[in-house]
Amino acid sequence: MSQTDVAALITALGGRVSLQTLLGVGPSAISNYLARGALPNRARPLICQALQERGYQIDPQSLRITALPAVKSRQVQLRRMRGASLLLIIGGGIAAYKALEVSRRLQDHGITVTGVMTKAAQQFITPLSLSALTAQKTYTDLFSLTDEAEMGHIRLARETDLVLVVPATANLMARTAQGLADDLATTLLLATTAPVIMVPAMNPAMWAHAATQANLTTLRNRGVEMIGPVAGDTACGEEGEGRMSEPEAIVTATLARLARADSTGDFVGRHALVTSGPTVEPLDAVRFISNHSSGRQGHAIATALAKRGADVTLVSGPVNIPDPPGVETVHVETAEQMLAACQAALPADIAVCTAAVADWRARDQVSGKIKKRPGTTIAPSLSLTENPDILAQLSSHPQRPELVIGFAAETNDLQANASEKLRRKGCDWIVANQVLPDETGETVFGSMQNKVSLMTGDGQEEWPMMPKTELADRLVQRIIDTIGAAHAKS
Ligand code: PMT
Repeated sequence: MSQTDVAALITALGGRVSLQTLLGVGPSAISNYLARGALPNRARPLICQALQERGYQIDPQSLRITALPAVKSRQVQLRRMRGASLLLIIGGGIAAYKALEVSRRLQDHGITVTGVMTKAAQQFITPLSLSALTAQKTYTDLFSLTDEAEMGHIRLARETDLVLVVPATANLMARTAQGLADDLATTLLLATTAPVIMVPAMNPAMWAHAATQANLTTLRNRGVEMIGPVAGDTACGEEGEGRMSEPEAIVTATLARLARADSTGDFVGRHALVTSGPTVEPLDAVRFISNHSSGRQGHAIATALAKRGADVTLVSGPVNIPDPPGVETVHVETAEQMLAACQAALPADIAVCTAAVADWRARDQVSGKIKKRPGTTIAPSLSLTENPDILAQLSSHPQRPELVIGFAAETNDLQANASEKLRRKGCDWIVANQVLPDETGETVFGSMQNKVSLMTGDGQEEWPMMPKTELADRLVQRIIDTIGAAHAKS
């Protein structure tokens, strides 16, 4: 039986989770279908029906999509959009199916995507599925007279704002690093003058191999930006670094890169410094003082600033969430290290101090583990000393950013305590949040949502409960409005 283009069906259904739900199976079953290019028989009528409901026409025997819903109106819509144009090069790896999702999501942001597929990529997905999604011709062949008549490969390489390689296989990275031009993809990578982003995906041992790492260094030195890979289970069943970043992270980083390249981006040429997460202050060799900050709020703010074109330095304490794509992340442990990293990042135009910095640390360094004394119930006494106040130091720094924003985490008297911090620390705005658990036991620390009061020199605003990502976008919009207004005045 011929292979089924499972990836195209998944995309048409709206993603892997939709197929999982439709068939009542888990993520590993979907990975199996993709790898085998086949679906169980019982899935066929369900998929046909679901796709017909979405406006597709589908051949029930081969499960090939024969007509797309409203393709015409989509093309008209794309033509109307004044977006950037992007060349999406798809390499030959199992993660190629995710490139379809990436292409869809980029188009949601008004970006015109033109697809290029290597020969190996066509083993995993078809040019037809990509063309169907992009409403553009997909290019595969270096020596195609038809393609050259329509658009020469040099023009293809030049008439783009960005080249995105998803997935970048070890082979494609190696050939690009060597400057080979032995197929259309590598020729375009050699000929383009646009920024290039690669999204590596491969077996962890291949990623760790000295040859791949040397190629990575070469490519980075030439200005190629990388998204991922991340650690996790890979398609070959091995665990480790090599798994491709998720489409959402790829799209976020791509938007950030396009915003930087696009001189109309609100924050192009601006440097933003953001702190996030907790600090960890050792008490002895094994114990520490810290808090429950997850880094979600600070990381969301860094992402939102990058999306608007800023060069962002994120100084983060230890957290369990990935570094935001398109952001330079400096990892620290203690408040003193966080202060040093912030100072090293200056000058900056904007500073947002979201980190939950421990106010105190142990006064004396203890090299080993403080021992329990047998036969006594007397606990050792710990002497603490105050940590530097990073927000206050940035606010009074000779290279003070134009706008310095602090957060206030309060358990009582939110307004009074936050306004006192605004005054005492010398920042411009304070974003105050109540961090006591609510009636359901949920607290701001670690949750996906937040409810804040924004205190500026001009007054106070109450913002409703919203996702931390939305809060970040809203705060960044306020920053843009304010800094823009300040510039208009001067
Ligand atoms: O990370 P999440 O799980 O998403 O949670 C988000 C959050 C609750 C951590 C965040 O919304 C928040 O409130 N951050 C500030 C936490 C805090 O330390 O608040 P504070 O009131 O103790 O400090 C006030 C300000 O001074 C903060 O901007 C803080 O970064 C800064 N500070 C505090 C102490 C210190 N030594 N140096 C500082 O810079």
